Amino acid sequence: MASYRGLIGQMRLRSAEWFEGRDELGPQSRSVLRTLGWSREFFAGKPVIGIANSWSELNNCNLGLKLIADAVKRGIIAAGGVPLEFHTMSLGEELMKPSAMLYRNLLAMEIEETLRSYPLDGVVLLTGCDKITPAQLMGAASANLPAIQVCAGPKAAGRWKGQELGSGTDLWQYLDAYRTGKLSEKEWQEFEEDYSSGVGTCNTMGTASTMTVLSEALGMMLPGTATIPATNAQRLSAAELSGRRAVELVLRDLRPAQIMTRNAFENALRIYLASGGSTNAVIHLLAIAGRLCVPLTLDDFDVFSQSTPTLLNLQPSGTRLMHDFHAAGGVPALMKVLQEQLHLECITVTGQPLKATLETISLRDHDVIHSVQEPLYPLGSLAVLRGNLAPRGAILRVSTASPQLYNHCGPALVFHSYSDLIERIDDPELPVTAESVLVLRNAGAVGVPGLPEWGSIPIPKKLLMQGIKDIVRISDSRMSGTSSGTIILHISPEASIGGPLAFVQDGDLIELNVEARTLSLLITEEEWAQRRASWSPALPEHRRGYPRLYAEHVLQPDEGCDFDFLKPASEEDLPFILP
Ligand code: FES
Ligand code: MG
Repeated sequence: MASYRGLIGQMRLRSAEWFEGRDELGPQSRSVLRTLGWSREFFAGKPVIGIANSWSELNNCNLGLKLIADAVKRGIIAAGGVPLEFHTMSLGEELMKPSAMLYRNLLAMEIEETLRSYPLDGVVLLTGCDKITPAQLMGAASANLPAIQVCAGPKAAGRWKGQELGSGTDLWQYLDAYRTGKLSEKEWQEFEEDYSSGVGTCNTMGTASTMTVLSEALGMMLPGTATIPATNAQRLSAAELSGRRAVELVLRDLRPAQIMTRNAFENALRIYLASGGSTNAVIHLLAIAGRLCVPLTLDDFDVFSQSTPTLLNLQPSGTRLMHDFHAAGGVPALMKVLQEQLHLECITVTGQPLKATLETISLRDHDVIHSVQEPLYPLGSLAVLRGNLAPRGAILRVSTASPQLYNHCGPALVFHSYSDLIERIDDPELPVTAESVLVLRNAGAVGVPGLPEWGSIPIPKKLLMQGIKDIVRISDSRMSGTSSGTIILHISPEASIGGPLAFVQDGDLIELNVEARTLSLLITEEEWAQRRASWSPALPEHRRGYPRLYAEHVLQPDEGCDFDFLKPASEEDLPFILP
């Protein structure tokens, strides 16, 4: 610490442009800090660290960040910095409809522009629910001011009928039991009470946990902090340490672009695949990398998946929950098991190479983090599929799919929209069998817009009653990271812009071959041409406002669903904040 403190006063800080100004900008800017009741001695010449707080009463997952911000401030002040907390949009997965994903890019813009326009030298990003983590990393990457991320932490597990409840994963499972009359109305209400177990993010390997784990794997969170449970006191001390580190990052001028390198993304990819993480992470990692011109492609996921075993026994790929992962050593322990496949020279927000962190780690619980010799699943959790139905790719989380469906050919049953799906899925007359391939289209980034989590098409009640738990389902949509099944997602290009999914008709044969990585519609070339010629796009639903901007500029999932104007075309366009 002493050496860092020595640097304060020696370097020209970005914030000095405002606070040390000799013209009218100086007194004007300083009066803002004086209005907070701070003396000149408290702030003069010190690094100003923003705290981007995303807590909101609209978002239960992030409520704990209110308290966490105080611990961050304590750390910043202790390290000789000046904390300034500001609030951002909060993307709450539970309440935002049709999808918090619609607003990920908006939040990324808000973060970037706040960092650009205010006198900040660095930032602590307080995240929680799913889309906030990637949005903050995208914004911080584009701004490229020193940044560190702190998360709200996974919620405690509720208990029901003697079992710990996994967020999302158990909800979907018990919902099916309720739909088929196996749970009474009273039991369903009891479940709801026990399921609502407190503040924090989903305690399974859903998108929130996946993205915070990946932030740590990328090097943007302090080691061991992504998994600390929301109500554990360690979460506050981790926040304090992160506040301290933010000041040190400024003084060492260590920026996101130096941390989130191609090698850091390769590390994140390994951890993603080894942990059976959420399918949404594919889109988010591509978007974050895109902001920095790091060459990451959809095919990288497949290539790495072929040589990365799935090791983490967490729902929905496995059986355990996030608190078990934390007790087993969290992300550093998983990295330790995989270290031979990682780039250990990568610098993290600690200012040290990853190697230094892993040297201090010992392994604990082999039921939670399996060994490479005895993996949960021998290959990585993801397959990237291509074929005439998905020329620009589609994905399948293999670790939660049914092996008997890996190689399957069946007749299509098409739903033209989400409302069509909801209307017909439980119709006793629905012409569906265990061989059917359910198709949902017009549910993509442009089509809705915002790519909602509609891809985990429910199993029709008719089949559930026959005891059938999984069939092949395909869409241009996403699904919750907590869902499982043989569900193919993110088909690109999507139906609404004329992707091949638009031309599928009931009864067409669709062939899935996971080993060959293909997804094909078995119709003749003439038939293709005919159907294509008679297709025309639907009129856009939104004629104004942000949804229109979104639909006009969003890229397809294979490019991370960022906006075309936010993604730099080449390194020359990188909009690094000056100085
Ligand atoms: Fe917010 Fe899962 S709904 S973390
Ligand atoms: Mg989710």
